[in-house]
Amino acid sequence: GGRHPPSPSFDFAELTVSPGSPTHHVAAGYDADVLIRWGDAVLADAPTFVPGRADAAAQARQFGYNNDFLGFLPLDGRSDHGLLVVNHEYTNGELMFPGLATRGDRDAGFASVTREMVDAEMMAHGGAVIEVRRENGKWHVVQGSRYARRITAETEMLVSGPAAGHDRMKTSEDPSGTRVHGMLNNCAGGITPWGTWLTCEENINGYFWNKDAAKPLTPEARALRRYGAPAEWYAWGRFHDRFDVTKEPNEPNRFGWVVEIDPFDPTSTPIKRTALGRFKHEGAGNIVNGDGRFVVYQGDDEAFDYVYRFVTDGKVDPGNREANRNLLDNGVLSVARFNADGTGEWLPLVHGLPNKSGQVWLTEANGFKDQGDVLIHTRLAADLLGPTKMDRPEDIDVNPRTGKVYLALTSNAKRTEDKTDAANPRATNAFGHIIEIVPDGGDHTADTFTWDILIKCGSPEIAAVGATFNPATSENGWFGMPDNFAVDADGRLWVSTDGNSPRKTKRADGIWAIETEGAERGTSRCFFQVPVGAEMCGPCFTPDLETFFVAVQHPGETEIGGDVISTFDAPTTRWPDFEDGTPPRPAIVAITRKGGGKIGG
Ligand code: FEO
Ligand code: CA
Ligand code: CA
Ligand code: CA
Repeated sequence: GGRHPPSPSFDFAELTVSPGSPTHHVAAGYDADVLIRWGDAVLADAPTFVPGRADAAAQARQFGYNNDFLGFLPLDGRSDHGLLVVNHEYTNGELMFPGLATRGDRDAGFASVTREMVDAEMMAHGGAVIEVRRENGKWHVVQGSRYARRITAETEMLVSGPAAGHDRMKTSEDPSGTRVHGMLNNCAGGITPWGTWLTCEENINGYFWNKDAAKPLTPEARALRRYGAPAEWYAWGRFHDRFDVTKEPNEPNRFGWVVEIDPFDPTSTPIKRTALGRFKHEGAGNIVNGDGRFVVYQGDDEAFDYVYRFVTDGKVDPGNREANRNLLDNGVLSVARFNADGTGEWLPLVHGLPNKSGQVWLTEANGFKDQGDVLIHTRLAADLLGPTKMDRPEDIDVNPRTGKVYLALTSNAKRTEDKTDAANPRATNAFGHIIEIVPDGGDHTADTFTWDILIKCGSPEIAAVGATFNPATSENGWFGMPDNFAVDADGRLWVSTDGNSPRKTKRADGIWAIETEGAERGTSRCFFQVPVGAEMCGPCFTPDLETFFVAVQHPGETEIGGDVISTFDAPTTRWPDFEDGTPPRPAIVAITRKGGGKIGG
């Protein structure tokens, strides 16, 4: 500390939390306007959205479903004109099309799912690049932009890094093991200093069919199971052989990566960067280390899974974009151990490398022939090194002003009392917590760090919950299930949540602003609330802090464990159109301050 001026405190009139409202709400003094919805035009020739129609060709040109990560890339250094990159994580067939039972008809064995629906779902996945501009105070999408792009589950992608061309990456369609169609379940991500988009494949297990394939006790079946595959959440395997693991056993290995995309070149080929490992990637929070090497922090969002860090071998060249093009192909991936004394260490996942005691774990005898194996089966490799099993690691983001790193552990109902540890101290962790990590010596490439718990989440009104918000936090200020972070240019921490509900926390998901320094540390304030059934994603600021883009994901989704079913025909909300016959539509919202000025005071 001391080298950076303190971050200003938040100064806004806190929003009163809304349980189960059909619409969104923002703190007084702010406007929150819908920018683009599922089905709106992205490409110039996109047809008009028709509610209930499964049309893959139209969907491939329109804004996709379930917008999660958002990244803003200024054009000409401006804060009122730029590119917005958007992840389209997954689809809710039951809200997109008439006649399906909840969870995309999964509980009904996909009885009513048609080929047309599947193909439209595949086109609603992936991502979008849109050009956005603020004029007369209001944001709009620039129609016919030369940057406009849709990425889908069929977009051709390259594989690079140590797992490219590996035997486990080869399929009948791609004997080279270097060319993949599409990206799946892209949750959060990151923006690099050289202006590319890192988009992270998360729950890829859900797209694969044929649970019989995971039953025999072969090494391949064991690896499939370690990734929860095949989970059969979608009917894609009925119509597309590559999603049936009995027909294409290596196809799952081609998903679960960090994908790098150049949003400034709509003809560029997205690249799966295998050096960053294969797991259920939440995001790719990153920073340029003091010595110029690039560091990416990553969570693997599964109960009892791990936190990872990738450090490039090479240095970022700030003056030469081209020189950074393949920087992410060489480097060291490590997995975190959190010690009980508040220290921690990064354990390198390098084939054949002895650990501090001279033992070598990542060997052919243990199932890893080469570094490609280590990366394709990152979870299995990490298991051997003894990292800390966490309460579902979501976003992990760096505060560039202080060098502190924030880690969201969203919840873990499966943690039992005998399995608690210092970094995951609550049994049946229903509400999650936030950990603050400080790299030793301010060096993000160091082997060691210290850590502390910033907040244990949940209701401070119920003693048994064990929440630890600063007592200055109001009844609106607490939350559960932290998911994504935005650290603003003033070094202030904002969190978005996934899993609050009237039933669970008497509030909707939303955005909360958290003080991290001084006497106010751990004080939280409510800023934004999503409509019923939605999760809050994508918190993203323009550089001038005058616009806050947020993503409203799956409005009207049926709550797991809730008692109200929500479908296309009878949704719990029709946000944001509120027209009969039009289902709820995931959308991006642009928040600005009435009369102008910085968000959050
Ligand atoms: Fe897609 Fe970990 O949330
Ligand atoms: Ca998430
Ligand atoms: Ca989540
Ligand atoms: Ca969700």
